[in-house]
Amino acid sequence: MVGKSELVAALEESRRRTLGLLAPVPDDLQRVQVSPLMSPLCWDLAHIGHFEELWLVRELAGAAPSVPRFDDVYDAFRHPRRERPSLDLLDAAGARDYDAAVRTRALEVLDRIDLEGGDPLLTDGFVYGMIVQHEHQHDETLLATLQLMHDFVHPDADGRGAGPNDGSALLARPLDVLVPAATFVMGTEAEPWAYDNERPAHTESVDAFRIDTTAVTNGAYAQFVDSGGYDDRACWSDAGWGWCTEAGLTAPQFWQRAADGGWTRHRFGRDEPLPEDEPVQHVCWYEADAYARWTGSRLPTEAEWELAARGASPATANLWREGPHRFAPSPVTGGCERASECGALGMLGDVWEWTASDFTPYPGFRAFPYREYSEVFYGPEYKVLRGGSWATHPSAVRTTFRNWDFPVRRQIFAGFRCARDA
Ligand SMILES: [Fe+2]
Repeated sequence: MVGKSELVAALEESRRRTLGLLAPVPDDLQRVQVSPLMSPLCWDLAHIGHFEELWLVRELAGAAPSVPRFDDVYDAFRHPRRERPSLDLLDAAGARDYDAAVRTRALEVLDRIDLEGGDPLLTDGFVYGMIVQHEHQHDETLLATLQLMHDFVHPDADGRGAGPNDGSALLARPLDVLVPAATFVMGTEAEPWAYDNERPAHTESVDAFRIDTTAVTNGAYAQFVDSGGYDDRACWSDAGWGWCTEAGLTAPQFWQRAADGGWTRHRFGRDEPLPEDEPVQHVCWYEADAYARWTGSRLPTEAEWELAARGASPATANLWREGPHRFAPSPVTGGCERASECGALGMLGDVWEWTASDFTPYPGFRAFPYREYSEVFYGPEYKVLRGGSWATHPSAVRTTFRNWDFPVRRQIFAGFRCARDA
């Protein structure tokens, strides 16, 4: 049972994160669109408040909208991201004020509501968990936008401190582990804040397979690039090759060739040497698939990934927590405290991992509490990503958590690991 004080604390933490991330960004820069793939930062900021008003004030208390036109401006389904800068948006200061006013009302509602009354929206604080996760998910989106601002140096992303496992390399680590054939329960009924797409828990069978103990590193991926993988048709699926040539892909996003022939990367406004032992990020699904083919492997299916992740703990994962950050994945050389039951490291945190699977509903799926969270996205256009990244808050990821995106997307903090038949 989740208490009201825990819900308030979770709401307050997500808001500290949002405001902290944006505090160094001048207000006028928050109104700018840096890429047609992303919203202006101030759109995300007010959308966070609008979504909170919709659920924690209007839905729970039956209140009228405070600003009716926001139902159009801040509804993600009415305006694609490329259109959003032309809308009549609140500026950053206005968005902060709006969010604060909504929060005050939401806490008043929470104060007088009965969480134990049997409403499925309120059971275990579900709708509050949804709002907390939503804000953290948008915070990760804000980070992706900030990363795309080529010339904006985020002062908190200064590389101070090392990843939690830096320097503790286990030299004898096997490259992959065997996961025996299994019939297991996929998805969850037990996680109170799980989304509809993680339900219902159901039985799934997989054949034995091998999966890499770590995500593919920058160093390993650079070998693929340097050996001509982006010019080698044989490495790519038909769709992948079509995209690689159309988009002119030559390396992961934000990589730059250094004068000495090696690589640097651009990260939150700075150039730095490419850290070879960090998981590669900012590769699209097609690039992940091509690398896997190059090594004679494949991407794991979503079921294989979830089975291999069993027992992975968010507590030891490189996820977003309050306090100093590197704004980067950790080196893959972690200790065994980061291992899942099968011995795979870093299944949670560091980078989202592309899987081979399309985003489809589990057998018996029911949309809850609204169709637009998951149901409208099901289909072959989207690939599933698993495990969360360094930018994901622990409340917004589980071994059952499913994320999805188009196979061409690279601005997200996504990498991958390889699998193969046993
Ligand atoms: Fe949203």
